Amino acid sequence: MQSIEVKTERPYKVKIGRELIPRIGELSAEIHSPCTVLIISDKNTAGFYMKEVLESFERSKFSILQYLFEPGENSKNMKELTNLLDFMAQNAMGRSDMIAALGGGVTGDLAGFAAAIFQRGIAYIQIPTTILAAVDSSVGGKTAVNLPAGKNLAGAFWQPELVVCDCHTFRTLAREELSAGAAECVKYAMLRSPELLFSLTESGLNSDWEDIIGQCVSYKAQIVSRDEYEQGLRMILNFGHTIGHAVERLSGYRIRHGEGIAVGMSIITRAAEKKGICESGTSQKLEAALKAFNLPTSSCYSAEQLADAALYDKKRRGDKITLVLPIKVGNCLSKDIYIQDLGEWIELGMGDRLCR
Ligand SMILES: NC(=O)c1ccc[n+]([C@@H]2O[C@H](COP(=O)([O-])OP(=O)(O)OC[C@H]3O[C@@H](n4cnc5c(N)ncnc54)[C@H](O)[C@@H]3O)[C@@H](O)[C@H]2O)c1
Repeated sequence: MQSIEVKTERPYKVKIGRELIPRIGELSAEIHSPCTVLIISDKNTAGFYMKEVLESFERSKFSILQYLFEPGENSKNMKELTNLLDFMAQNAMGRSDMIAALGGGVTGDLAGFAAAIFQRGIAYIQIPTTILAAVDSSVGGKTAVNLPAGKNLAGAFWQPELVVCDCHTFRTLAREELSAGAAECVKYAMLRSPELLFSLTESGLNSDWEDIIGQCVSYKAQIVSRDEYEQGLRMILNFGHTIGHAVERLSGYRIRHGEGIAVGMSIITRAAEKKGICESGTSQKLEAALKAFNLPTSSCYSAEQLADAALYDKKRRGDKITLVLPIKVGNCLSKDIYIQDLGEWIELGMGDRLCR
């Protein structure tokens, strides 16, 4: 089992390995005395793993509550959050109790935000069961729900007390979900590691996920430890996300988060290359990696539609927006541009318009 420390104000460990779900109670008891634990999960993930998680917490003398919701991005909203908070209050949960988020990024973001605001903040642990949640959303304490105006617009920074990633859970993931998670791994490769990009391109869905998750989480832990509240350095992790979120929103969240950022990374890399900021051939390498996972590199939306939708992004500050631009594989930088120039950047990187 790998154990990676995230050195935030309240430090915590990310444990990565196999067969960790049966040990979840024991691992939780090491950091939190037995209390009521509310296990939050979508109905799909719960069908696979809830029983094992329940039994493990019971063995370690925790009292248990469960809250289940419909799977998918459309559950990450204020209505579901209110129902969840109400459920916690009705069941007399208190400040010494704990939440366990069992599932993908939707579960982690929703459960984490509930933990952040219930009675001004209670403890929670993340049990990621998708690759996307394992490499990204379960680590770093960004929690949020979507508003009708855009992605993740209501949220808080609230770090978990523990993250337990059991790579054995990936065996039940649909192929499209594995690929969507791989998009975030490709993002980390573009930020810091040509070797990782090469390995992902060569191995595709047969990649050694335990090793890759360890590499990505180590990097994210370093960045988050230095800039917990995204004042500067951490913004680099948003590579592909401004346009990616726009794609997701325009599709009514039919397009997965990972698929959206695959499109976002592709558009911005082609644009950076055409502007002479990025080494020639970079977008070709990026697209080869994305294609190894059957991920999209363009969408059916126009540059104008994408630019309009991207204006609701959190990275907007007044009349400027921060873009993350690759210089070459393994090296990216943040750059503020004027909002009125965003459409031109997107137009430049559009590629073929394709509806999948
Ligand atoms: N907080 C952050 O820092 C951060 C970072 C990246 C992404 N996100 C958010 O994460 C979300 C996307 O996460 P996601 O891709 O994990 O989506 P998700 O949580 O919707 O999970 C995808 C699907 O996989 C199913 N599933 C989960 N685990 C499974 C398993 N082991 N076996 C079978 N099915 C399983 C779920 O039921 C769901 O249908 C987006 O809302 C995105 O905004 C947050």
